[in-house]
Amino acid sequence: MTSPLRFDGRVVLVTGAGGGLGRAYALAFAERGALVVVNDLGGDFKGVGKSSLAADKVVEEIKRKGGKAVANYDSVEAGEKVVKTALDAFGRIDVVVNNAGILRDRSFSRISDEDWDIIQRVHLRGSFQVTRAAWDHMKKQKYGRIIMTSSASGIYGNFGQANYSAAKLGILGLANTLAIEGRKNNIHCNTIAPNAGSRMTQTVMPEDLFEALKPEYVAPLVLWLCHESCEENGGLFEVGAGWIGKLRWERTLGAIARQKNQPMTPEAVKANWEKICDFDNASKPQNIQESVAGMIEVLHKIDAEGGVSINHTSHATSTATSGFAGAIGYKLPSFSSAYTEMETIMYALGVGASVKDPKDLKFVYEGSSDFSCLPTFGVIIAQKSMMGGGLAEIPGLSINFAQVLHGEQYLELYKPLPRSGKLKCEAVVADVLDKGSGAVILMDVYSYSGKELICYNQFSLFLVGSGGFGGKRTSEKLKVALDVPSRSPDAVLRDTTSLNQAALYRLSGDWNPLHIDPNFASLAGFEKPILHGLCTFGFSARHVLRQFADNDVSRFKAIKTRFAKPVYPGQTLQTEMWKEGNRIHFQTKVQETGDIVISNAYVDLVPKSDISAKTPSEGGELQSTLVFEEIGRRLKEVGREVVKKVKAVFEWHITKGGDIAAKWTIDLKNESGKVYKGPAKGCADTTIIISDDDFMQVVLGKLDPQKAFFSGRLKARGNIMLSQKLQMILKDYAKL
Ligand code: NAI
Repeated sequence: MTSPLRFDGRVVLVTGAGGGLGRAYALAFAERGALVVVNDLGGDFKGVGKSSLAADKVVEEIKRKGGKAVANYDSVEAGEKVVKTALDAFGRIDVVVNNAGILRDRSFSRISDEDWDIIQRVHLRGSFQVTRAAWDHMKKQKYGRIIMTSSASGIYGNFGQANYSAAKLGILGLANTLAIEGRKNNIHCNTIAPNAGSRMTQTVMPEDLFEALKPEYVAPLVLWLCHESCEENGGLFEVGAGWIGKLRWERTLGAIARQKNQPMTPEAVKANWEKICDFDNASKPQNIQESVAGMIEVLHKIDAEGGVSINHTSHATSTATSGFAGAIGYKLPSFSSAYTEMETIMYALGVGASVKDPKDLKFVYEGSSDFSCLPTFGVIIAQKSMMGGGLAEIPGLSINFAQVLHGEQYLELYKPLPRSGKLKCEAVVADVLDKGSGAVILMDVYSYSGKELICYNQFSLFLVGSGGFGGKRTSEKLKVALDVPSRSPDAVLRDTTSLNQAALYRLSGDWNPLHIDPNFASLAGFEKPILHGLCTFGFSARHVLRQFADNDVSRFKAIKTRFAKPVYPGQTLQTEMWKEGNRIHFQTKVQETGDIVISNAYVDLVPKSDISAKTPSEGGELQSTLVFEEIGRRLKEVGREVVKKVKAVFEWHITKGGDIAAKWTIDLKNESGKVYKGPAKGCADTTIIISDDDFMQVVLGKLDPQKAFFSGRLKARGNIMLSQKLQMILKDYAKL
């Protein structure tokens, strides 16, 4: 035997509880320990008149049986007053059963304005007023159970009840939304369409049926739905005579009656009518997301196929099987994209690099001597290569983008990303896996700078609901995510994301409105826009790089992550790290909730020794080398004189392909001046960063240094004014 469902201490308000169904509910709740507010206006069934008698009688009956109850005689239209009775008498409100009702039956042409309005006011507006008055109390206590009373007349329509049907289905609409809005505060709202003998149905029901359909056969459903242990929310139930059934919506697969770039015509609708109305293989959308997802799929289909019926006669997954197998090895059209230092910086800011930390300056200021592109920027152009519509083009795969989740990510760098440049991406479907609940597409993307392979990405895309096609579960091509060690982490770094984090990150190229548009986010089932998974990925990688590689991007080799949960902008990311040789295992949590948002992750670092061994001999093939050497020679003759005029040490960073290829120092401050390779031995007054080519242009007089400075081709740090004296040095002493 299960234990009895009790309501001890719960305060229950039943409207229209002076008779019929409401009375049965009130008695049943009281019998099980609830403190009951019996509301009833006490008029006739058409809503005429009022009396305290109806409510008082039920209160007396409850008290006689040992229960606790108070009466309220207000109309439900005065919801605040009704709820106030509960608060005054018992101090809280846990359950609201919206039950009060009247009838004004008339055939449609005979409905007066008053007949229409009073029905809407009592049923729909009354349910709204009472519920709203209770809502904030329920929200505060994070508990509430609400019943709405609809009717078969509303669900199916009924002759002579246009006003009543409209109000009763309006109530269902209200309940549907309250179920969604209340969910996070443990407020559940369900709707019943009862059938019972009452004064309302006395005149329309045959006498024996009237007797048989007792209100007591409806009350137990209401009690169960209002019990704290009941998880049901947003349900609609028909109930009567001891039978209870649940209702839901059903939708045909439908047909597309439009072709790409063609006007849609009523004739096309007519031609497709049979399919539009064919309930074979019908779907049962449960929420607005599922409803809207269908529309998005339609748009993709029209775009991809020019417009075909989606009313497959065979089972959907069977087309998927052959499609998935055929997709493996498919290459997306190659894609090139250039980026400047601005994109490099914007990305760094998007993943939380900040001037707050002096060590981050190298990622956000192009004038830093060691300005670098964050390694995880490597995902950005690769992702763009897939988002340009390429995925929708994969033959045999119809990807519903509303159901694509980014499951995992792997990125490997073969050399540090240039601070600016152009990458060409080649994307290929590496494999398709069957995970039962969905399919996983492994997309491999190779990014080249010229002919040189710079980085490799593997995106694991999870297609919800596309599994079960009999494919393999795993693949040797999959870069495998690894468990983190069981000991406590060796290091933990935290960063609080800003409320604008997603708004900033998206500027790097992921424009999905899910991350900025509250309406879109709510359609996708989130309470507000979420942070991009790859933004959290960038934060975490930065943490590892800072903690274990002193922000040296040349030490970053590879990263693998699994996206476990969404993050909301404003939350604090906490990266927990474990060092095992050159592999740093990590997981990322949201500090506020403790939820793991990136799991089974690791970063592989290049060992320090390899870096120094690999560093090329600086400046080997640079044109500027000759110039510096020449300046050095001439200084020997006129050094003292120049030192008197200039009195400054200049450090030069000569770049090639976006990287610093050589450092030179021209010392025009000490003794008779000196030119030497490498950074300034003391402190440089001015540091100048310029590419080898631009340096030559300046030297040859083809590029004005000031113009180069203002156009960003020459960058200077420190005492910038001193750099004006350079022109003189270069002109006078470097003519080759
Ligand atoms: P009923 O007429 O016995 O009970 C309704 C109660 O609501 C009455 O006691 C009445 O005084 C009270 N009431 C009316 N206007 C009010 C107002 N403005 N403020 C406060 N109380 C007010 O009818 P019954 O059958 O018990 O109906 C209960 C609910 O179930 C109604 O909402 C009705 O529309 C609905 N319903 C009943 C069906 C049935 O087979 N009995 C079928 C479908 C729906």
